[in-house]
Amino acid sequence: MLHQPFYDPAKSYEENFQSGPFGAFADGVVIEDSGEPSHEFLGVKLHSLFGIPAGPLLNSRFVKAALRKGFDIATYKTVRTTACPCHAWPNVLAVKLDGDLTLQKAQTPLAADQNYCEPLSITNSFGVPSREPDFWQPDLADAVAAAECGQVVVGSFQGTATGGNEQDYVNDFAHAARLVKETGCKILEVNLSCPNEGAANLLCFDIARAQKVVSAIKNEIGNTPLIIKIAYIADDALLTQLVRAVEKTADAIEAINTIPAAIVNQSGQPALPGQNRLRSGVCGSGIKWAGLAMAAKLKALRGDLYARYTIIGVGGVMNAGDYQDYRKAGADAVLSATGAMWNPYLAQDIKNY
Ligand SMILES: Cc1cc2nc3c(=O)[nH]c(=O)nc-3n(C[C@H](O)[C@H](O)[C@H](O)COP(=O)(O)O)c2cc1C
Repeated sequence: MLHQPFYDPAKSYEENFQSGPFGAFADGVVIEDSGEPSHEFLGVKLHSLFGIPAGPLLNSRFVKAALRKGFDIATYKTVRTTACPCHAWPNVLAVKLDGDLTLQKAQTPLAADQNYCEPLSITNSFGVPSREPDFWQPDLADAVAAAECGQVVVGSFQGTATGGNEQDYVNDFAHAARLVKETGCKILEVNLSCPNEGAANLLCFDIARAQKVVSAIKNEIGNTPLIIKIAYIADDALLTQLVRAVEKTADAIEAINTIPAAIVNQSGQPALPGQNRLRSGVCGSGIKWAGLAMAAKLKALRGDLYARYTIIGVGGVMNAGDYQDYRKAGADAVLSATGAMWNPYLAQDIKNY
Protein backbone atom coordinates (compact mmCIF):
# COMPACT_ATOMS: atom_id res chain seq x y z
CA MET A 1 0.00 0.00 0.00
CA LEU A 2 1.30 3.44 -0.91
CA HIS A 3 1.07 6.14 1.77
CA GLN A 4 1.22 9.89 1.25
CA PRO A 5 4.86 10.50 0.22
CA PHE A 6 7.02 12.62 2.53
CA TYR A 7 8.44 14.36 -0.58
CA ASP A 8 5.50 15.67 -2.63
CA PRO A 9 6.22 15.22 -6.39
CA ALA A 10 3.37 17.62 -7.23
CA LYS A 11 5.30 20.44 -5.57
CA SER A 12 8.59 22.01 -6.65
CA TYR A 13 11.88 21.08 -4.99
CA GLU A 14 11.91 24.50 -3.32
CA GLU A 15 8.39 24.08 -1.90
CA ASN A 16 9.36 20.67 -0.56
CA PHE A 17 12.55 22.14 0.89
CA GLN A 18 10.65 24.98 2.61
CA SER A 19 7.48 23.16 3.74
CA GLY A 20 8.28 19.42 3.82
CA PRO A 21 8.35 16.73 4.90
CA PHE A 22 4.70 15.71 4.44
CA GLY A 23 2.41 12.86 5.47
CA ALA A 24 3.36 10.83 8.54
CA PHE A 25 6.87 12.35 8.48
CA ALA A 26 5.19 15.58 9.62
CA ASP A 27 3.21 14.13 12.55
CA GLY A 28 6.07 14.35 15.08
CA VAL A 29 5.27 10.87 16.43
CA VAL A 30 8.41 9.03 17.56
CA ILE A 31 8.70 5.29 16.97
CA GLU A 32 11.16 4.39 19.70
CA ASP A 33 13.50 1.43 20.01
CA SER A 34 13.96 -0.10 23.40
CA GLY A 35 17.15 -1.86 24.46
CA GLU A 36 20.76 -1.45 23.53
CA PRO A 37 21.69 -1.12 19.85
CA SER A 38 23.11 -4.48 18.81
CA HIS A 39 24.35 -3.94 15.25
CA GLU A 40 27.72 -2.57 14.17
CA PHE A 41 27.94 -0.26 11.14
CA LEU A 42 31.26 1.41 10.30
CA GLY A 43 32.19 1.81 13.95
CA VAL A 44 28.74 2.97 15.11
CA LYS A 45 26.29 0.84 17.12
CA LEU A 46 22.85 0.81 15.50
CA HIS A 47 19.38 -0.50 16.31
CA SER A 48 19.04 -1.72 12.72
CA LEU A 49 21.06 -1.96 9.53
CA PHE A 50 18.47 -0.06 7.52
CA GLY A 51 17.87 3.52 6.45
CA ILE A 52 17.48 6.08 3.68
CA PRO A 53 20.19 6.86 1.06
CA ALA A 54 21.17 10.28 -0.29
CA GLY A 55 18.31 12.12 -1.97
CA PRO A 56 14.88 12.23 -0.38
CA LEU A 57 16.08 13.81 2.92
CA LEU A 58 16.49 17.38 1.68
CA ASN A 59 17.48 19.08 4.93
CA SER A 60 17.60 18.61 8.70
CA ARG A 61 13.79 18.60 9.06
CA PHE A 62 13.56 15.60 6.72
CA VAL A 63 16.49 13.84 8.45
CA LYS A 64 14.96 14.35 11.90
CA ALA A 65 11.61 13.02 10.69
CA ALA A 66 13.32 9.90 9.29
CA LEU A 67 15.18 9.30 12.56
CA ARG A 68 11.91 9.67 14.50
CA LYS A 69 10.33 6.96 12.34
CA GLY A 70 13.18 4.53 13.08
CA PHE A 71 15.28 4.84 9.91
CA ASP A 72 18.54 4.32 11.80
CA ILE A 73 20.84 5.30 8.91
CA ALA A 74 19.68 8.69 7.58
CA THR A 75 21.65 10.24 4.72
CA TYR A 76 21.48 14.01 4.21
CA LYS A 77 21.00 14.83 0.50
CA THR A 78 24.26 15.26 -1.47
CA VAL A 79 25.88 18.68 -0.95
CA ARG A 80 28.47 20.67 -2.89
CA THR A 81 31.08 23.34 -2.03
CA THR A 82 29.07 25.98 -3.93
CA ALA A 83 25.38 26.68 -4.48
CA CYS A 84 23.83 24.86 -7.44
CA PRO A 85 20.22 25.31 -8.65
CA CYS A 86 17.69 22.49 -9.04
CA HIS A 87 16.27 21.43 -12.41
CA ALA A 88 12.81 22.78 -13.24
CA TRP A 89 9.69 20.97 -12.00
CA PRO A 90 8.69 18.16 -12.41
CA ASN A 91 11.57 16.40 -10.66
CA VAL A 92 9.81 13.11 -9.93
CA LEU A 93 7.45 11.12 -12.19
CA ALA A 94 5.97 7.61 -12.07
CA VAL A 95 7.58 5.36 -14.71
CA LYS A 96 5.36 2.81 -16.41
CA LEU A 97 7.22 -0.48 -16.47
CA ASP A 98 6.25 -4.04 -17.14
CA GLY A 99 8.47 -6.05 -14.76
CA ASP A 100 12.16 -5.31 -14.28
CA LEU A 101 13.96 -2.41 -15.92
CA THR A 102 16.53 -4.55 -17.75
CA LEU A 103 19.44 -2.80 -19.46
CA GLN A 104 17.80 -3.70 -22.77
CA LYS A 105 14.52 -2.02 -21.78
CA ALA A 106 16.48 1.02 -20.61
CA GLN A 107 17.57 1.49 -24.26
CA THR A 108 13.97 2.25 -25.26
CA PRO A 109 11.92 5.32 -24.20
CA LEU A 110 9.83 4.77 -21.06
CA ALA A 111 6.46 6.45 -20.49
CA ALA A 112 5.99 8.44 -17.30
CA ASP A 113 3.15 10.36 -15.66
CA GLN A 114 1.93 11.55 -12.27
CA ASN A 115 -0.08 8.44 -11.45
CA TYR A 116 1.84 6.61 -8.71
CA CYS A 117 0.84 2.98 -8.24
CA GLU A 118 2.36 -0.38 -7.33
CA PRO A 119 4.73 -1.87 -8.30
CA LEU A 120 6.25 1.62 -8.05
CA SER A 121 9.17 2.83 -10.16
CA ILE A 122 9.92 6.52 -10.55
CA THR A 123 12.39 8.78 -12.25
CA ASN A 124 14.14 11.52 -10.30
CA SER A 125 15.76 14.48 -12.00
CA PHE A 126 17.15 17.19 -9.74
CA GLY A 127 20.68 17.91 -11.04
CA VAL A 128 22.14 17.56 -7.53
CA PRO A 129 21.10 20.98 -6.22
CA SER A 130 22.92 22.40 -3.20
CA ARG A 131 22.73 25.41 -0.93
CA GLU A 132 25.95 27.28 -0.01
CA PRO A 133 28.05 25.63 2.73
CA ASP A 134 27.13 28.59 4.97
CA PHE A 135 23.58 27.23 4.90
CA TRP A 136 24.09 23.47 4.87
CA GLN A 137 26.97 23.19 7.35
CA PRO A 138 24.93 24.38 10.38
CA ASP A 139 21.85 22.56 9.07
CA LEU A 140 23.76 19.27 8.70
CA ALA A 141 25.32 19.74 12.14
CA ASP A 142 21.79 20.11 13.53
CA ALA A 143 20.73 16.88 11.79
CA VAL A 144 23.81 15.00 13.06
CA ALA A 145 23.04 16.08 16.63
CA ALA A 146 19.47 14.74 16.33
CA ALA A 147 20.57 11.10 15.95
CA GLU A 148 19.65 9.14 19.08
CA CYS A 149 21.73 6.30 20.49
CA GLY A 150 21.55 3.51 17.87
CA GLN A 151 21.25 5.87 14.91
CA VAL A 152 23.62 7.69 12.56
CA VAL A 153 23.45 10.53 10.03
CA VAL A 154 25.58 10.07 6.89
CA GLY A 155 26.85 13.16 5.02
CA SER A 156 26.84 12.74 1.23
CA PHE A 157 28.81 15.08 -1.04
CA GLN A 158 30.30 15.42 -4.52
CA GLY A 159 32.76 17.66 -6.32
CA THR A 160 31.89 20.29 -8.91
CA ALA A 161 33.97 21.14 -11.99
CA THR A 162 34.48 24.87 -12.38
CA GLY A 163 36.04 24.73 -15.83
CA GLY A 164 39.50 24.26 -14.32
CA ASN A 165 41.79 21.27 -14.68
CA GLU A 166 41.39 17.75 -13.32
CA GLN A 167 43.31 18.56 -10.14
CA ASP A 168 40.87 21.40 -9.30
CA TYR A 169 38.00 18.96 -9.73
CA VAL A 170 39.67 16.37 -7.48
CA ASN A 171 40.50 19.06 -4.91
CA ASP A 172 36.86 20.14 -4.80
CA PHE A 173 35.86 16.64 -3.65
CA ALA A 174 38.43 16.84 -0.84
CA HIS A 175 37.22 20.33 0.07
CA ALA A 176 33.60 19.12 0.21
CA ALA A 177 34.68 16.21 2.41
CA ARG A 178 36.41 18.58 4.85
CA LEU A 179 33.31 20.82 5.03
CA VAL A 180 31.08 17.80 5.75
CA LYS A 181 33.48 16.44 8.38
CA GLU A 182 33.51 19.85 10.13
CA THR A 183 29.79 19.40 10.89
CA GLY A 184 30.56 16.48 13.22
CA CYS A 185 29.31 13.84 10.76
CA LYS A 186 30.65 10.41 11.83
CA ILE A 187 30.32 8.78 8.39
CA LEU A 188 30.94 10.43 5.01
CA GLU A 189 29.74 9.31 1.58
CA VAL A 190 31.14 10.40 -1.76
CA ASN A 191 28.83 10.18 -4.74
CA LEU A 192 30.89 8.56 -7.52
CA SER A 193 27.71 7.79 -9.46
CA CYS A 194 27.58 11.43 -10.54
CA PRO A 195 28.46 12.74 -14.03
CA ASN A 196 32.23 12.74 -14.56
CA GLU A 197 32.57 16.44 -15.32
CA GLY A 198 34.24 16.97 -18.69
CA ALA A 199 33.71 13.34 -19.78
CA ALA A 200 30.81 11.35 -21.19
CA ASN A 201 30.37 8.70 -18.50
CA LEU A 202 29.83 8.55 -14.74
CA LEU A 203 32.82 9.09 -12.46
CA CYS A 204 32.77 5.51 -11.15
CA PHE A 205 33.47 4.25 -14.70
CA ASP A 206 36.68 6.35 -14.84
CA ILE A 207 38.84 4.20 -12.59
CA ALA A 208 41.97 6.38 -12.61
CA ARG A 209 40.06 9.51 -11.72
CA ALA A 210 37.84 7.79 -9.16
CA GLN A 211 41.00 6.50 -7.44
CA LYS A 212 42.49 10.02 -7.33
CA VAL A 213 39.25 11.41 -5.88
CA VAL A 214 38.96 8.75 -3.18
CA SER A 215 42.65 9.11 -2.16
CA ALA A 216 42.36 12.91 -1.97
CA ILE A 217 39.28 12.60 0.24
CA LYS A 218 40.89 10.06 2.53
CA ASN A 219 43.98 12.29 2.92
CA GLU A 220 41.62 15.03 4.05
CA ILE A 221 39.39 13.07 6.46
CA GLY A 222 41.81 10.54 7.95
CA ASN A 223 40.09 7.80 9.96
CA THR A 224 36.51 8.99 9.45
CA PRO A 225 34.73 6.15 7.63
CA LEU A 226 34.17 6.79 3.91
CA ILE A 227 31.43 5.20 1.81
CA ILE A 228 31.71 5.31 -1.97
CA LYS A 229 28.40 5.29 -3.82
CA ILE A 230 28.52 3.66 -7.26
CA ALA A 231 26.19 2.86 -10.14
CA TYR A 232 25.20 -0.54 -11.50
CA ILE A 233 28.29 -1.88 -13.29
CA ALA A 234 27.45 -4.69 -15.70
CA ASP A 235 31.03 -5.34 -16.78
CA ASP A 236 32.59 -7.62 -14.14
CA ALA A 237 36.15 -6.85 -15.22
CA LEU A 238 35.54 -3.12 -14.83
CA LEU A 239 33.92 -3.60 -11.41
CA THR A 240 36.91 -5.68 -10.30
CA GLN A 241 39.30 -2.93 -11.45
CA LEU A 242 37.33 -0.28 -9.59
CA VAL A 243 37.15 -2.29 -6.38
CA ARG A 244 40.87 -3.09 -6.55
CA ALA A 245 41.59 0.62 -7.01
CA VAL A 246 39.59 1.81 -4.00
CA GLU A 247 39.25 -1.07 -1.53
CA LYS A 248 42.21 -0.04 0.63
CA THR A 249 40.93 3.55 0.91
CA ALA A 250 37.15 3.21 1.04
CA ASP A 251 35.50 1.68 4.12
CA ALA A 252 32.24 0.82 2.38
CA ILE A 253 30.83 0.44 -1.12
CA GLU A 254 27.20 1.40 -1.71
CA ALA A 255 25.33 0.33 -4.85
CA ILE A 256 23.29 1.21 -6.76
CA ASN A 257 22.19 4.64 -7.88
CA THR A 258 19.56 4.87 -10.62
CA ILE A 259 19.50 3.26 -14.09
CA PRO A 260 19.17 5.95 -16.80
CA ALA A 261 16.61 5.80 -19.61
CA ALA A 262 14.80 8.19 -21.97
CA ILE A 263 11.63 9.38 -20.23
CA VAL A 264 8.65 10.41 -22.38
CA ASN A 265 5.03 11.45 -21.84
CA GLN A 266 1.90 9.78 -23.27
CA SER A 267 2.54 11.46 -26.64
CA GLY A 268 6.12 10.24 -26.82
CA GLN A 269 7.59 13.71 -26.16
CA PRO A 270 10.30 14.32 -23.50
CA ALA A 271 8.52 14.33 -20.14
CA LEU A 272 11.05 16.53 -18.34
CA PRO A 273 11.50 20.13 -19.52
CA GLY A 274 14.84 21.74 -20.38
CA GLN A 275 18.13 20.72 -21.94
CA ASN A 276 19.84 17.37 -21.33
CA ARG A 277 16.92 15.97 -19.38
CA LEU A 278 15.59 13.40 -21.86
CA ARG A 279 17.61 10.66 -20.14
CA SER A 280 16.90 10.47 -16.45
CA GLY A 281 17.60 8.00 -13.64
CA VAL A 282 14.99 5.37 -12.81
CA CYS A 283 14.69 3.92 -9.30
CA GLY A 284 12.25 1.88 -7.24
CA SER A 285 10.83 -1.57 -7.83
CA GLY A 286 12.11 -2.06 -11.40
CA ILE A 287 15.81 -1.79 -10.47
CA LYS A 288 15.85 -4.21 -7.53
CA TRP A 289 17.39 -6.95 -9.69
CA ALA A 290 20.40 -4.71 -10.42
CA GLY A 291 20.99 -3.72 -6.79
CA LEU A 292 20.78 -7.35 -5.70
CA ALA A 293 23.21 -8.39 -8.44
CA MET A 294 25.70 -5.73 -7.29
CA ALA A 295 25.44 -6.82 -3.64
CA ALA A 296 26.23 -10.39 -4.70
CA LYS A 297 29.13 -9.32 -6.95
CA LEU A 298 30.62 -7.06 -4.25
CA LYS A 299 30.44 -9.90 -1.73
CA ALA A 300 32.16 -12.37 -4.07
CA LEU A 301 34.86 -9.79 -4.88
CA ARG A 302 35.44 -9.02 -1.21
CA GLY A 303 36.22 -12.69 -0.67
CA ASP A 304 38.40 -13.02 -3.77
CA LEU A 305 40.45 -9.92 -2.89
CA TYR A 306 40.61 -10.58 0.88
CA ALA A 307 39.14 -7.10 1.24
CA ARG A 308 37.25 -5.72 4.24
CA TYR A 309 34.79 -3.14 2.91
CA THR A 310 31.21 -2.98 4.16
CA ILE A 311 28.55 -3.58 1.49
CA ILE A 312 25.51 -1.28 1.41
CA GLY A 313 22.65 -2.45 -0.81
CA VAL A 314 20.27 0.03 -2.46
CA GLY A 315 17.66 -0.20 -5.19
CA GLY A 316 14.01 -1.20 -5.18
CA VAL A 317 13.65 -1.99 -1.48
CA MET A 318 9.89 -1.51 -1.13
CA ASN A 319 9.08 -3.90 1.76
CA ALA A 320 10.58 -6.11 4.49
CA GLY A 321 10.97 -9.04 2.08
CA ASP A 322 13.13 -6.91 -0.21
CA TYR A 323 15.33 -5.98 2.77
CA GLN A 324 15.77 -9.70 3.55
CA ASP A 325 16.64 -10.45 -0.09
CA TYR A 326 19.45 -7.87 0.04
CA ARG A 327 20.83 -9.24 3.30
CA LYS A 328 20.84 -12.76 1.81
CA ALA A 329 22.56 -11.50 -1.36
CA GLY A 330 25.44 -10.07 0.67
CA ALA A 331 24.51 -6.54 1.81
CA ASP A 332 25.69 -5.70 5.35
CA ALA A 333 23.27 -2.77 5.46
CA VAL A 334 20.34 -1.79 3.24
CA LEU A 335 18.84 1.57 2.23
CA SER A 336 15.61 2.60 0.50
CA ALA A 337 14.78 5.89 -1.22
CA THR A 338 11.64 5.31 -3.33
CA GLY A 339 10.17 2.69 -0.97
CA ALA A 340 10.69 4.91 2.08
CA MET A 341 9.26 7.99 0.33
CA TRP A 342 5.91 6.23 -0.12
CA ASN A 343 6.05 4.23 3.14
CA PRO A 344 7.05 6.23 6.24
CA TYR A 345 6.64 3.01 8.28
CA LEU A 346 9.09 0.93 6.22
CA ALA A 347 11.77 0.87 8.96
CA GLN A 348 9.16 -0.22 11.48
CA ASP A 349 7.86 -2.91 9.09
CA ILE A 350 11.39 -4.28 8.72
CA LYS A 351 12.00 -4.29 12.49
CA ASN A 352 8.69 -6.11 13.08
CA TYR A 353 9.18 -8.67 10.27
C1 LIG B 1 14.09 11.88 -4.86
C2 LIG B 1 15.45 11.26 -5.00
C3 LIG B 1 16.58 12.05 -4.97
C4 LIG B 1 17.87 11.46 -5.09
N1 LIG B 1 18.99 12.25 -4.96
C5 LIG B 1 20.21 11.65 -4.84
C6 LIG B 1 21.37 12.41 -4.47
O1 LIG B 1 21.30 13.63 -4.24
N2 LIG B 1 22.56 11.76 -4.36
C7 LIG B 1 22.69 10.41 -4.58
O2 LIG B 1 23.79 9.87 -4.46
N3 LIG B 1 21.61 9.67 -4.93
C8 LIG B 1 20.38 10.26 -5.04
N4 LIG B 1 19.27 9.49 -5.32
C9 LIG B 1 19.44 8.03 -5.60
C10 LIG B 1 19.15 7.16 -4.36
O3 LIG B 1 20.07 7.43 -3.32
C11 LIG B 1 19.21 5.67 -4.69
O4 LIG B 1 20.52 5.30 -5.03
C12 LIG B 1 18.29 5.27 -5.85
O5 LIG B 1 17.08 6.01 -5.78
C13 LIG B 1 17.94 3.78 -5.81
O6 LIG B 1 17.23 3.45 -4.64
P1 LIG B 1 15.63 3.24 -4.61
O7 LIG B 1 15.29 2.24 -5.65
O8 LIG B 1 15.34 2.79 -3.21
O9 LIG B 1 15.02 4.57 -4.89
C14 LIG B 1 17.98 10.06 -5.25
C15 LIG B 1 16.82 9.28 -5.33
C16 LIG B 1 15.55 9.86 -5.21
C17 LIG B 1 14.33 8.98 -5.28
